[in-house]
Order: sequence, then structure tokens, then C-alpha cells
Amino acid sequence: MENQPIHIFFFIALILLSSNCSALDNISAHQEIRDGKATLVSEGEMFELGFFSPGKSKKRYLGIWYKKISYGTVVWVANRNTPIADRSGMLKLSKQGNLVICSGDNPMVWSSNSTGNNSVVVAQILDTGNLVVWNKNKMIWQSFDYPGDTHLPGMKIGKDLVTGSQRFLTSWKSPDDPSIGEYTHIYDTNGYPQVLRLRGEILVGRLGPWNGLGFSGLPIEKENHIYSIKFVVNEKDIYATYELKSSVVQRIVVTWDGKSSILQWIERIKDWIVYANAEVDTCDRYSLCGPYGICSINKHPPCSCMDGFEPRNPKE
Ligand SMILES: *[C@@H]1O[C@H](CO)[C@@H](O)[C@H](O)[C@H]1NC(C)=O
Ligand SMILES: *[C@@H]1O[C@H](CO)[C@@H](O)[C@H](O)[C@H]1NC(C)=O
Ligand SMILES: *[C@@H]1O[C@H](CO)[C@@H](O)[C@H](O)[C@H]1NC(C)=O
Repeated sequence: MENQPIHIFFFIALILLSSNCSALDNISAHQEIRDGKATLVSEGEMFELGFFSPGKSKKRYLGIWYKKISYGTVVWVANRNTPIADRSGMLKLSKQGNLVICSGDNPMVWSSNSTGNNSVVVAQILDTGNLVVWNKNKMIWQSFDYPGDTHLPGMKIGKDLVTGSQRFLTSWKSPDDPSIGEYTHIYDTNGYPQVLRLRGEILVGRLGPWNGLGFSGLPIEKENHIYSIKFVVNEKDIYATYELKSSVVQRIVVTWDGKSSILQWIERIKDWIVYANAEVDTCDRYSLCGPYGICSINKHPPCSCMDGFEPRNPKE
């Protein structure tokens, strides 16, 4: 039992850590969150914000993870492409309302680029998993506008028509590396409301098109008591979002190897189950039907041509 003292050490460290960082959900200008010293915890203790190392990596990132359930499952990372090599990382909020991560040798590892107007700015982690910068009561920045690999309820995937900015999901490079990986979920704002799945520049699948009830690529029943997916088109933006109708905890994630799944937390087994895989139906292999093809899972064979196009291979 030679490593028992180490266990005891960690146990004590855990107690110290958890008593140290209880219940602060916000910082104001000139307050800071230092790696290893403190975290922010949302009011209902659903999410925690702080520095972490993913998987086997020793590099440090500022991230948001579940706290009350599935402790440590990361849903968002700030400095995805600019990791910190040691534990000198610090998150600060400037008086101007700019959230900044710095480290020992780097005054600007990452920045939210937000600007407020006075010293009433506050950065707060919410029970939705959203990190928000408030200028008095006005939201001037939110992490939900910069999705990573996880689509949480309430997050909008799509396009801000005012600023022209796109919000899309990008996979991690590997379980140990949250930097921008190969796979992307991007909202197709040109045609049908649908989410395109890309590997690099190559279209590998889609969620959709939207059929009024759900994406055709997902097994969504007529009456879904768990969540509702919405497509919204207005003058300001065009996006897909979803809301939970019950107390279920759910996330949509694009894994580093390109799977996209709806995951649900089952408290009884204390684990996530795959509620649906976006890849289950053959239509989702978009290229199956070739260019200018229309795929329908209700048809056999599933491919047909768009008006004005002839099948290249009529048998298929
Ligand atoms: C920030 O946290 C403090 C301490 O818990 C709390 O009193 C205050 O109301 C919080 N501020 C906001 C804007 O929620
Ligand atoms: C902030 O601005 C820098 C420089 O323009 C940019 O590289 C960075 O991505 C921006 N950060 C966010 C969170 O948009
Ligand atoms: C900041 O607030 C002051 C007073 O409310 C106002 O005069 C000024 O225009 C504001 N500055 C910016 C950059 O919004």
C-alpha cells in the first residue's frame, strides 16, 4: 500500500479545493480566477468554470464542465488553440469588460474582445453552461456565441445576419487535444434549413432537411416530450436550437472522430447514453446519392434526382 499516502494527500487536497471555491458564480473587474486556486460554480451547481487538462494532456485550458452530474465532462473551452504549458494561467475581467486569459509569460493567451463601458462589468457562469459578461443588466458577451464541440440546449447554431458571423460546432482534434479538429457542423443558410456535417471541406453528412418535426436524419417522434428542435429565421438571424421540455440533461456533441450524437444523462447508472446518432440512417451518408441527389429514408432505393437531373446510374 505504498501509494496510500498519495491517496490521502489527494483526498485532503480535494476537500481543501472544494471548500475553497464554494459557490462563487461571478467575478467583477480586477478579480481573477487562478489555475488551481479557484473556479466559478453556477448557482445551481450544474456547471463549473476553471482550468483543466484534457485526457492525458498536461497542457492547461480554461473550460466549462458539468459539476453536479458527470463531473469533469467538458462542454466548452476558451483557449482551444492556445494552451498554457504550466499552471500559471489566470482569467481576468478588465474594467472595459474584456475577459482575458494570461499566463506567466503571455499577457494575452485568449481574449473575449468584449467591451463594456464602466466598472459594473461582471462575468458569470450560468446553470445553462453559458459564460456571460454583463454590463449592468446588458449582456455584452456570451460563450454560447462561440460554440465548441458541444451543442447545449439554448445554444444557437447558425448565422447572425447583422454581423455576418457563423456559429458552428467543431470537433476536438483528439480526446487529449481540444484544438480545432477535422469535423464541423455548420448551418446551411443557402437552401433547406439543414445542418451540414463536414470533414475539412468535404461534405460527409447532414442533419436535415428540416421536415417540420425534426431533422430527417434523426429519429424524432411526432410527440417528443424530451426536447424540441427549432429552426428560426428572422431579420436578425437564422439558426437551429433546441430546448428541453423535461428535467433530462442532454447535449449534442461532435466527437473528434466525427460522430455526432445526442447524449442523455441517466442518473440511475450515472452515465451518458446515446439517445440518437446522427449517422444512423443511410441518407446521412450524404454522398451516397451523389451531387444533385435527394435522399429520402422513406423510399427504397433512397436516392432520387433533383428536378432537371438524370440519374448517372439508374439501377442504383
Ligand atoms: C456575484 O456573486 C456575489 C457573491 O456570491 C453575489 O452576491 C452577487 O449577487 C453576484 N453578482 C451577480 C451579478 O450575480
Ligand atoms: C479576439 O480577437 C483576436 C484578434 O482579432 C482573435 O484572434 C480572437 O479569435 C478573438 N477572440 C474571440 C473570442 O473571438
Ligand atoms: C459610456 O457611458 C457614457 C455615460 O453613460 C456615455 O456618454 C458614453 O458615450 C459611453 N461610451 C461608450 C463607448 O459607449
